[in-house]
Amino acid sequence: MNRTKYLIVLIAFSMAAFSCTKAIIDEGAIPEPIDGAIKFDPDIQNIVFNHCVTCHGGAAPSANLDLTTYQNVRSSAENGTLLNRVEDSANPMPPNGLLSLEQRQAIAKWAEDGFPEN
Ligand code: HEC
Repeated sequence: MNRTKYLIVLIAFSMAAFSCTKAIIDEGAIPEPIDGAIKFDPDIQNIVFNHCVTCHGGAAPSANLDLTTYQNVRSSAENGTLLNRVEDSANPMPPNGLLSLEQRQAIAKWAEDGFPEN
């Protein structure tokens, strides 16, 4: 009986240790907070050119939203829904899934800092 109790305690402890290890690994994957300056050119422009302009550019941009210029991206972030949509996991932009945490933090920091251009 004591042996069984001991085994149960041992199993519980190893499970706890395992989940702790996993949590620590997950946490390690979160990038450092962004403290440097984030500028439209090059930081935000790179993100938008790589993840948005295939749809939000060209002759007939999706949602009639052209994101190929500083003014347009800024205006969508400042007066439109860009900041919400890039954080909306139920209805994300880009539609195939949220940007990386690092990219989303960069966009948030850029807005917080007043949309510096370059
Ligand atoms: C695969 C094509 C595609 C990509 C890539 C894409 N979008 Fe969109 N986007 C759409 C479509 C289609 C709509 C309109 C339907 C909707 O709102 O979901 C839209 C709507 C939006 C809207 C709402 C516009 C409004 O007037 O309400 C914003 C803001 C937006 N996209 C921003 C972005 C940003 C920022 C990126 C890149 C991080 C991006 N999109 C990438 C296709 C795309």
